[in-house]
Amino acid sequence: MARPLHVMIDLDALRHNYRLACACAPLSQTLAVVKANAYGHGALACAQALADVAPAFAVASIEEAMVLREGGITQPIVLLEGFFDASELEVISREGLWTAVHSHWQVEALCARHLDPPVPVWVKLDSGMHRLGFEEQGIDAVWQRLQAHSGVGELHLMTHFATADMLDSAYFKRQLASVMAVRERLDAPVCLANSPATLVWPEAHGQWNRPGIMLYGADPLEGNNDMSRRLRPVMTLQSEIIAVREVASGERIGYGGRFVTSRPSRIGVVACGYGDGYDRHAVDGTPVLVDGLRAKVAGKVSMDMMTVDLTDLPQADIGSTVTLWGNGPNGTTLDVNEVAVYCDTISYTLLTGILPRVPRRYYDGHHDPQ
Ligand SMILES: Cc1ncc(COP(=O)(O)O)c(C=O)c1O
Repeated sequence: MARPLHVMIDLDALRHNYRLACACAPLSQTLAVVKANAYGHGALACAQALADVAPAFAVASIEEAMVLREGGITQPIVLLEGFFDASELEVISREGLWTAVHSHWQVEALCARHLDPPVPVWVKLDSGMHRLGFEEQGIDAVWQRLQAHSGVGELHLMTHFATADMLDSAYFKRQLASVMAVRERLDAPVCLANSPATLVWPEAHGQWNRPGIMLYGADPLEGNNDMSRRLRPVMTLQSEIIAVREVASGERIGYGGRFVTSRPSRIGVVACGYGDGYDRHAVDGTPVLVDGLRAKVAGKVSMDMMTVDLTDLPQADIGSTVTLWGNGPNGTTLDVNEVAVYCDTISYTLLTGILPRVPRRYYDGHHDPQ
């Protein structure tokens, strides 16, 4: 009998969420962002599940792109951070990758070669994120230089929004105005929208959109939007109760004795810890589902285990199913966003944080995760 902790990935939910992203922006092409191992879901498996519907994918590096190529993905793959060294350019050309360009050294490197086939380039504007990209003033010269070079294929303009998830964001509108001004000057096709912009900012939809987190069913707008409420969780992190302790009132549970029982208590031990990627910042009270019913973390998360208060769940026992997030038994769910709040983080870090020792099982929505 194996350790009961595992991750289940619902590929049918992934396809449903992808179709929802397309429905939000029917005039755009929607590429699927599968960087960081598809936000922890397994990049190749996710790309394969979307291969017959997604016209392109996006990753953070050539290494991530090659995982897809070696697994048989033939669509264009966009390198969102571009290349890190000029020596990558031949591979980019040969493998049919598209590259972001955000710095002058990258322009020089591209223009020093005559790549065949030419490499499509997404020129990145810094419209206010102040992370990667060219300033609004200097970008026309970059565009024209690249446009004139035979080793460069079709050009797109891209930018990234800092606050698209804030529904009344003046800063978002400032960034949008900046990129729209450049788009008009250059008459450029654009790719601007991440998940929240795909969901709620139609004015930011371009020739391409590039949603990530929404594909995995974590709502970047936390239920504030009709479309995003229809997202389905893709990842379920599931384990079991492996021991139950009866503990008197006033006893301390786990490292540092952080949780102190206020009544005679039943404490369940769950096979899941920070050595699996579960966030050690989870406070007492962080929700879990035990056989589909809510229970609370009680005590600090340790490397391989965590403790939950089962006092109000007398039927829970060794072998009870524990859902850390995702789909529980009998149609129950625990939103990863809710867990993230208790860990003072966001769904992105919880999903990408699950470590390789946790086995991933893929299914297509017809299988009851129980
Ligand atoms: C450049 C870029 N585009 C798109 C995305 C996808 O964003 P989201 O997961 O919020 O949809 C990211 C995510 O970090 C990104 O860095």
